[in-house]
Order: sequence, then C-alpha cells, then structure tokens
Amino acid sequence: MIEKIQKMLAEVADLHAQTAEEAEALRIKYLSKKGEITALMADFRNVPAELKKEVGMRINELKNAAQEKINALKEAAAVQKAADTAEDLTRTPYPIQLGTRHPLTIVKNEIVDIFSRLGFTLAEGPEVEDDWHVYSSMNFADDHPARDMQDTFFVEAHPDIILRSHTSSVQARVMEKTQPPIRVICPGRVYRNEAVSARAHCFFHQVEGLYVDKNVSFTDLKQVLLLFAQEMFGPDTKIRLRPSYFPFTEPSAEMDVSCTLCGGKGCSLCKGAGWLEILGCGMVDPAVLEANGIDSSVYTGYAFGMGIERITNLKYQVKDLRMFSENDTRFLDEFVSAN
Ligand code: PHE
Repeated sequence: MIEKIQKMLAEVADLHAQTAEEAEALRIKYLSKKGEITALMADFRNVPAELKKEVGMRINELKNAAQEKINALKEAAAVQKAADTAEDLTRTPYPIQLGTRHPLTIVKNEIVDIFSRLGFTLAEGPEVEDDWHVYSSMNFADDHPARDMQDTFFVEAHPDIILRSHTSSVQARVMEKTQPPIRVICPGRVYRNEAVSARAHCFFHQVEGLYVDKNVSFTDLKQVLLLFAQEMFGPDTKIRLRPSYFPFTEPSAEMDVSCTLCGGKGCSLCKGAGWLEILGCGMVDPAVLEANGIDSSVYTGYAFGMGIERITNLKYQVKDLRMFSENDTRFLDEFVSAN
C-alpha cells in the first residue's frame, strides 16, 4: 500500500491541465467520491493495525498534495484564460464610481445662475490674449506694475501675447463688438506668475460682471451685489464697500461680506474682523468705454470681478488652494452632496 501511495504521489506531482475543465476532470479522477485517492482511503480499513499510523499519515499527505496541485492548476488556468481573453486584471472593479462636479464648477455655476436671474448673459473670451484686451484697453498705464514679468506670463518671442491675468479682458471683447445695453457675466481661468503655495497659485478662476447702459449708477451696482451676496451666502448676509483703486473703474471699491462662519461677531476665519473681502468693483472708467468704442457722454456702466476659489473657500473652508488642482478623488468626493 505504501508503495502505491508513493507512486501516486509522484503521479500527482506531475499532473498537467490546460483549462479549468481539465483540472476539474483531474479532481474527479482522484478526489471525488469514486476517485482513486478516495478509494485508497476506503482501503485503509484493511491495513494491519501496526501500519495504520504510517499509512494514515501518507494517505493524508497524498490527499493534501493532490488537492493543492489541482487548485494550483485551476488557478493557473484561470489566469491564462484572463490573459487569453485580454481582460485587464488591473482595471477598476465594478461598480465603477460615478464622478462628481469639481467644487469650482459647482460654485461657478451657482454664481452664473444668480446673475442670470438678474438678466446677465454669459460671455467668454480666450485665455491666451493680447496686451490690448488685458491691459491697454483697460486703461493700464504703459508702466503699470501688473504688466511686469513678475505678474504676467508672456508667450516667448511674442511680447504682445500673454496669458490673461484677469477676466476684465472679456469686458473689452464684449464692448468692442456690442453697443449698450450690455449686461454680461464672464467666468474663466486666469494666470499670474506666482509661486504655488497654499495661499497663491499660478492659475485661478474669476467671474467678471459688466453692465453698460444709460443712467447706470453706483446704487445699481450696490443693489446687485447685495442681492448676489444674500443669494450666495444666505439672506442675513450684510455687505460693505471700501474705497479702492483699479485702473479700469472710477470710483472703485472692494466689497466685504459679513463673515460666513460667525455672522460678524469675529472668529478665526475673519480674523476677528467680522468681515471677509470677496470682490473688486466700480463704475467703468469713461476712458475704458471710449477705448472700446462706446460713447461715454451717453453711457455709464459698472463692473465687478471676483475669484471663484475665494468664494469656494468661504463656502466650504478649503484651506489649501493646491487641493483644487491636484485631482485627489478623496477631496473631490467631499462635494458629492453639493452636486
Ligand atoms: N480685474 C480685477 C482683478 O483681477 C477685479 C475687478 C473687476 C475689479 C472689475 C473691478 C471691476 O483683481
């Protein structure tokens, strides 16, 4: 009997199978109810008592060896089959998770939606721009520091071609083609030559608004911005306008909203001030209207511009600007419910 077991052990070690079916046939041949190894085990009761211990051990050994060998053959056959049918074993398993909108897209859509309810229509312009639309037509002096290499990305060998550093260039593109009334909202990506850190990035996103018509006043601007702030941050939001300076608006202001976290009491988000700065605005400088072919003795207008990242940070308390462009799905997944 021991000899027979040894012989079968060698036989089992040498088994081959090309397919899972062949491996299964081997299992039936050796290990099923009527299999050869099962038959050996049935014979065990005829083994003399003094040999039972050793024979028992060897039969077990044989049975285990056969089982392991056949399992290994089945596995190899499955891998081979997957390779033959060109299945990619590294692909994402089902169910494939659905993507979500990027937080900046969610907030941009919200901003555009609020202004479209106030009668603004969408306008877009190129990211690769010329100096005229970004700076000259916007009343920037020739020696204005924003034109500096430190702020602006230039296209090599074309000093006139730049990456736009603000969406105000879209104002110029709309005005040169359209006579008032003009009421547009212009979202888009802008570029500035800044070292990338948690608080600054070499590209970010802005939304620009422009309204030009007869009798447009600063009061209209303030009313529209108050409505926007309350739609965006809640009905109790207050706004305040502080005098400021932009080459393309006169007078100019910066707008703060009451802190979105503490409501104005003072907290770590607003650094105790109770207010958060969110945008720049003002009455379109008559020189800008004239440069873009609009009669400044007939028309007046207002403009405003805000950073989408800034608004998103205030709504969702994103601490590091780099998160927006790293495509880390763990970060993006946090916005599933906002979609
Ligand atoms: N273009 C300005 C900026 O990038 C924002 C702005 C737009 C200010 C329109 C006033 C009017 O900072």
